[in-house]
Amino acid sequence: MSCVLGIETSCDETGVAIYDTTSGLRAHQLFSQIARHAEYGGVVPELASRDHLSKLAPMVAATLEEAGMSPEALDAVAYTAGPGLIGALLVGASFAAGYARALGKPLVPVHHMEAHLLAPMLDNEAPDFPFVALLVSGGHSMLVDVRALGDYEVIGNTLDDAAGEAFDKTAKLLGLPYPGGPALAALAADGDDARFALPRPMMSRPGIDFSFSGLKTAVLMCVRDLQGIARDASPRPGDTLAAQDRADLAASFQAATVDTLAGKCLRALDQTGRNTLVIAGGVGANRRLRETLRTRCEARNATVFYPPMQYCTDNGAMIALAGALRSDLATRDYTIRATPRWPIGTPMP
Ligand code: KG4
Ligand code: ZN
Repeated sequence: MSCVLGIETSCDETGVAIYDTTSGLRAHQLFSQIARHAEYGGVVPELASRDHLSKLAPMVAATLEEAGMSPEALDAVAYTAGPGLIGALLVGASFAAGYARALGKPLVPVHHMEAHLLAPMLDNEAPDFPFVALLVSGGHSMLVDVRALGDYEVIGNTLDDAAGEAFDKTAKLLGLPYPGGPALAALAADGDDARFALPRPMMSRPGIDFSFSGLKTAVLMCVRDLQGIARDASPRPGDTLAAQDRADLAASFQAATVDTLAGKCLRALDQTGRNTLVIAGGVGANRRLRETLRTRCEARNATVFYPPMQYCTDNGAMIALAGALRSDLATRDYTIRATPRWPIGTPMP
């Protein structure tokens, strides 16, 4: 298989791309629905599905035009089959199945998190197997032992919130707009990360699981203290805080989260005996996380790989790449298949 069309519609990004196993990424289109969901403070699933529906077909045409290709020249159609929002997934799955069937080409159902962890291979300097992957997005925080292509074991997981979710919820507390992660990171740049002594959850005991809900609560306590209200009172909107207080809280939260994530990554390398680390998922776009891990991995003679910045968050390029690499999953069964829950490393439910 050489030239694969990839379709991503699992959440609030419509992504379409064409990846060629000989020449690499040939075309890439992305439409973000962020503006549509911002007024609701989070993704509204029904609106997401409708938007994918109106954007997908024209974006596929535009991607083929960008690559200078006819649909017949494609070798397969890959799409995100899960996990994700079911309505949103079904838009991509229906389109992909119909398109592949009409062209008489194989269909490749791709696991969204597998695509995230393979995304660093879109870069010229790609990691070799085996490696440890830290997958940190809005819905997941996990450490995966990647033994080979398709051979994955989850060795650490979050007990409550995902890292991206913690960024988003904390950002909301500070009165920042959705999606909070990038906004909080920008605010943190002007803050003092040592002003608030926030916990490093689960670092004081052995193991590589995460927990972020306590950290979020600790920020909430600081907000109430700064607002001079009781610790069990409803906090006032975060934008009533003084600008420097907000920036210092953002910086302290980011430092605690990054410290915890980095600490667990190093433990995972120790536990598995690997010396290659891959960071993937939306939170992988966080510069502080990138810098911290680069320094700590260097000190340990381990190498860290990141996807190119624009392929950290959801995109079609990683789906096209995963589809091209996982040709073993290609099928001519055009049943429309999508699943909201699908543990990585297991067959599609
Ligand atoms: O992988 P992704 O695009 O979508 C999911 O599959 O969830 O990840 C989105 C998450 C959001 O929670 C967003 O706030 C977070 O990644 N994020 C960041 C940054 N950029 C995106 N978090 C921290 N710092 C960033 N620079
Ligand atoms: Zn994602």
